[in-house]
Amino acid sequence: MSTIYLTTPLYYVNASPHIGHSYTNVAADCLARYYRHSGNDVFFLTGTDEHGQKISQAAAAANKNPQVFVDEVVEHFESLWQLLNISHDDFIRTTQERHVHVVQAALTRLKDEGKLTREKYSGWYCTPDETFWTPQELAKEIKDEVPSNPLCPSCQRPLEAVEEEGWYLHLRDSQNWLRTFLQKNPRWIRPESRFNEIFSLLQDDLPEYLCITRPKQRVNWGIPVPFDPEYVTYVWFDALLNYLTATGYLVDQGQFEKRWPPKVQIIGKDILRHHAVYWPIMLHALGIDENNMPELIFAHGWWKIGEQKMSKSLGNIVDPNVIVTVFLKDQPFAADIYRYFLMREVSFGQDGSFSEEAIESRFAADLANDLGNLVNRTLSMLDKYCGSVIPKATFDNAADQALRDAAIALPGCFEKTIPELEFSKALEAVMRVVSQANRYIEEQMPWKLAKEESPDRLHAVLRTLTETLRVTAIMLYPFMPSVAEEIWRQLGLEKPIQTLKEAANWPGLAEGQQCVDHPVLFPRAKR
Ligand code: MSP
Repeated sequence: MSTIYLTTPLYYVNASPHIGHSYTNVAADCLARYYRHSGNDVFFLTGTDEHGQKISQAAAAANKNPQVFVDEVVEHFESLWQLLNISHDDFIRTTQERHVHVVQAALTRLKDEGKLTREKYSGWYCTPDETFWTPQELAKEIKDEVPSNPLCPSCQRPLEAVEEEGWYLHLRDSQNWLRTFLQKNPRWIRPESRFNEIFSLLQDDLPEYLCITRPKQRVNWGIPVPFDPEYVTYVWFDALLNYLTATGYLVDQGQFEKRWPPKVQIIGKDILRHHAVYWPIMLHALGIDENNMPELIFAHGWWKIGEQKMSKSLGNIVDPNVIVTVFLKDQPFAADIYRYFLMREVSFGQDGSFSEEAIESRFAADLANDLGNLVNRTLSMLDKYCGSVIPKATFDNAADQALRDAAIALPGCFEKTIPELEFSKALEAVMRVVSQANRYIEEQMPWKLAKEESPDRLHAVLRTLTETLRVTAIMLYPFMPSVAEEIWRQLGLEKPIQTLKEAANWPGLAEGQQCVDHPVLFPRAKR
């Protein structure tokens, strides 16, 4: 079985993680769990970007040696991924020996094949973004004459003038190749607006070269260039190669062939140019052919805080740890509530507005009222009327059939939406079935049926509801793994949760099976 390889960006360890970082990892985790739960072998990679000027400046400000500094900050990332139940298979750090080896081997190979040249360059550097802007690019981006103190077109912070010599990779030589590749693969970058952005960028000339080194005397925190001791590797060239390192590239050919290429590379919209222009050109230069390019680059939107950009200077950076352990402190499934909010609130690809009020109202409407109520009412009635035993039932009533049909259509809906990263659509579909099941309770009135002489209708209704809970738990598993496992446990079922394919088997519970205690999933807290 070939592997489904999924990646997230590597996060800079100049500071602790914030909600933006957690967004990408939660989305990638939902995708990874979805694929695993559909019976696939998955290799899910995340990690940290630990070199470059930005990190060495942060280490200097903290009065620490850069390696000591990154070793400390990386722990905040690792512990957050644990808190959020991120199920990555590998965590790569760009300071690891395995990565240094691959970067140096790739550089040597490009140099030996005559694909690198040593040149002098001058231009503008954005340290926070670790991105170089040529005067031509800058003029194009700001659509005006370049002022004497220009701002970065991407993050609007002041640029630094640089003039130095370095090693270069040809960009313009590969421009036609990339344009044709995109023409042939119009769904390679998504959403479509992001594809259009890159495609139109490629209508004009790219800068002739990408400088892939930095002089040691200016930036010494980087991977040494093996054939030129005066230089270290440019942090983006170093970081992008991580996606190859983790597959076993140049080290373990069998593993590389099994893992490569990535099925989906999830990134934020601000790092699209690096992933959709530099990255394929680097791969092309390394001899990776068109049929072996990553399959999809998906650029998600940004979370704003209310209507504001999240930034250090505005002092509005949100720490996911605070949301989960302080704001949602009375919730036993706080991390899942946070995951649900991120995936349900905005359609993946669009920008979103983050606030505690938005979490609160999404939580109240969808989770406490709809899902929590359905689970609690169903299992309380099963307890009261059937001693918590799954009853025998036939499914020949139209109302029962309507709810069953809606529930067993969910796996098909997931197959259409999740590979397209339409997470909020998939969740909306699950929650529609949950609402339908709550309406079904109101219409069928099990408390009335309990007074009738024959228990058949009561049993059919309770069985339809418990089967719906079973399907709901399976479907929610990629998004809210702990909540799904708790519903599963309350149904008296053993782990692992059934696969997405098994969700459509109806009935899927064993008659006579005993359900267990059912504490409320989402207690309504007074805040
Ligand atoms: N180190 C580079 C990536 C190298 S990948 C080979 C980097 N790191 S980062 O830490 O600055 O950003 C990582 C990711 O966080 C980016 O995908 C970025 O889009 C995302 N986000 C940063 N702020 C964000 C929001 N406010 N909202 C959503 N995502 C945001 O870039």
